[in-house]
Amino acid sequence: MHPRVSDDRPDHRAAAVPPLLVPPPGYAPAPPGAACPQACCLAPELHVLGDAPATDLDSAPNAPADPDARARYRWKVGHQASIALWQLMNGELDGALASEEGEGEAIGRTARCYDLYSVLLLYAGSCSPQRYADTVRADMAACHPAFSGQWAADYRPLPGLVRRVVNGRPREHTAPLRDAVRGNQRIHAAVAARLVPEGTSLLQEAGRNPGASPTPKETAMFDAFFAVRRGPVCASGLRSQLRYRLALARGDLLVHGLFGPNVPWAAVEPSPDLVQTFASRAVDLLVHHIDDLTAQDAARSAPAVL
Ligand code: HEM
Repeated sequence: MHPRVSDDRPDHRAAAVPPLLVPPPGYAPAPPGAACPQACCLAPELHVLGDAPATDLDSAPNAPADPDARARYRWKVGHQASIALWQLMNGELDGALASEEGEGEAIGRTARCYDLYSVLLLYAGSCSPQRYADTVRADMAACHPAFSGQWAADYRPLPGLVRRVVNGRPREHTAPLRDAVRGNQRIHAAVAARLVPEGTSLLQEAGRNPGASPTPKETAMFDAFFAVRRGPVCASGLRSQLRYRLALARGDLLVHGLFGPNVPWAAVEPSPDLVQTFASRAVDLLVHHIDDLTAQDAARSAPAVL
């Protein structure tokens, strides 16, 4: 007779992270409802879009209890959330460049998105340097010896859009965005320096030029590694997918904490004060954005009152 499998096994409810559906490189999300084969704003296709637990955040599945599995899970959830977020940020900045109406709000929202991205960097890279080398970095190197964040197609337009918005407007209008971008660059550098103290990325180790644009094969490899699929999807579908990943991260942090007692961010590590500022606000920032994304979709789908 087989032993009965208990529902209390630590990873029994561990989340399988669904694939992320985003528009092909160079394409914006489809307008809500239009040209969206999933009709994702109307009836999310659960397998692909992993509909967010919008009202019941606590129903999000668990993160794995095993620390190696959790490091890989955080790397994937953090990257998928960042990819959806980059898409939405590109859209905000495109909008700000196209019309002056509402550009102040768009700049403010993009600055808050950069802060969220800073939290996602910390979340994705929160394991110990040793565990990072043994799991995430080894997996990426096995995928390709020069595997790099530079192959992220959805990130590539972002710095140029920020530059155009910042350069074309009075400094006082763009101060929050400039501050958030600078903070984000420091957090990325701090995570990189902590996880890879010798300082060389896989791209550099492979002798590649960090300034070179990725080939279509390399961006496809990045997509495959993080289970990113390309196809028409509307902005509402992107928000739904982002919200779900933020709910996963929030549930994980409430159970396991950000760094855990054995791998704190030590005072001798890079940018300890800035990291502490974001680390202490991580759950609040995630919840704020989950609420914000929920409200945006509720406002859009509310029937007009005459
Ligand atoms: C925590 C999650 C991380 C995310 C989401 C992320 C994302 C990115 C992105 C989007 C880029 C492209 C930047 C651009 O084109 O301007 C990039 C580049 C880079 N990242 Fe990260 N990164 C992460 C962690 C790390 C870590 C742990 C390292 C440690 C080595 C690192 C080192 C680098 C380097 C050196 C580059 C320049 C290109 C290269 O040499 O690969 N990053 N990253």
